[in-house]
Amino acid sequence: MDFNAYKPTGKLSNKHMLTLMDYSTEEIWEILKCAIELKRKVYAHEKHEYLAGKTLAMIFAKSSTRTRISFEQGIKQLGGSPLFLSTNDIQLGRGEPIRDTVRVMERMNIDGIMIRTFKQSDLNELAKWGHIPVINGLTDDFHPCQVLADILTVYEKFGTLEGKKLTFFGEGFNMANSLMLGCAKVGMDVCICSPEGLGPDPAIVEAARKGAFGGAKVTVTSDIDEAIKGAHAVYTDVFFSMGQTKDPAKEKALMPMQVNAEMMKKADPDAIFLHCLPAHRGEEVTDEVMESPQSWIFPEAENRLHAQKAVMYLLMKD
Ligand code: CP
Ligand code: NVA
Repeated sequence: MDFNAYKPTGKLSNKHMLTLMDYSTEEIWEILKCAIELKRKVYAHEKHEYLAGKTLAMIFAKSSTRTRISFEQGIKQLGGSPLFLSTNDIQLGRGEPIRDTVRVMERMNIDGIMIRTFKQSDLNELAKWGHIPVINGLTDDFHPCQVLADILTVYEKFGTLEGKKLTFFGEGFNMANSLMLGCAKVGMDVCICSPEGLGPDPAIVEAARKGAFGGAKVTVTSDIDEAIKGAHAVYTDVFFSMGQTKDPAKEKALMPMQVNAEMMKKADPDAIFLHCLPAHRGEEVTDEVMESPQSWIFPEAENRLHAQKAVMYLLMKD
């Protein structure tokens, strides 16, 4: 069985989307197949208001362009309503406990929560005290919705996932973690290339290897040439993530991993460039690569909408 042969069931056994660690290969396929179908409906102008009357609360403790727009637009296209809640404005930001917040939300008929915050444990707390689905819109540890969109983008380019290699250049932080887990689960080889001391948490590397499908390889290295060789998707992220303080030593260590035209030449000839965005041109990537024909960053950003609609639909429909 592979992704192309998988027949969707319309069901997910998971109640939440906290991390792709909790998801099986088939469940990720399920979401991707659903995203492809929902994307088709958008382009065909077919109504798909499957979440009519439902409300998604969107809690943001960090800034966002793509995540906010795609969830807000996505729930509307599904017939539901978004409720944007910045932690600058709600009592959660002044120390009201998560367990109280989620129980209040339920009493007011909120049907699902998307949260972007710092600690992954906050999501576990929401899931523990509430009965409604919780969706991770980015934490310091994971960014699962982004990776679903990334995998969908790779699939759209190559028509297959198994055996395709994605290489990530940068720190072992939220993007690297979720890419390892998600790509390995769908049968892609994934290589994380980080400077010494900035690599991903070995426990997450181990989990990605354990969950790998069909012999997919998970490699962690600081060797740039080894990492770029044969890459079908070249991925990078900002040197300094939200909540991190600038550090010249870290910048110096990451600079040789900048994705530039020279580096792209060493990847597979059909390779695409991906970036979760926002990007810092001249730091982790050059303007030339961002604007090159190999750059798939805007189809990738669009796929946030389709992938997240699939997650909302599958988690919130019942
Ligand atoms: N990629 C991503 O999550 O973008 P935002 O921070 O703009 O939501
Ligand atoms: N690693 C980045 C991703 C932004 C989408 C951050 O956490 O800021």
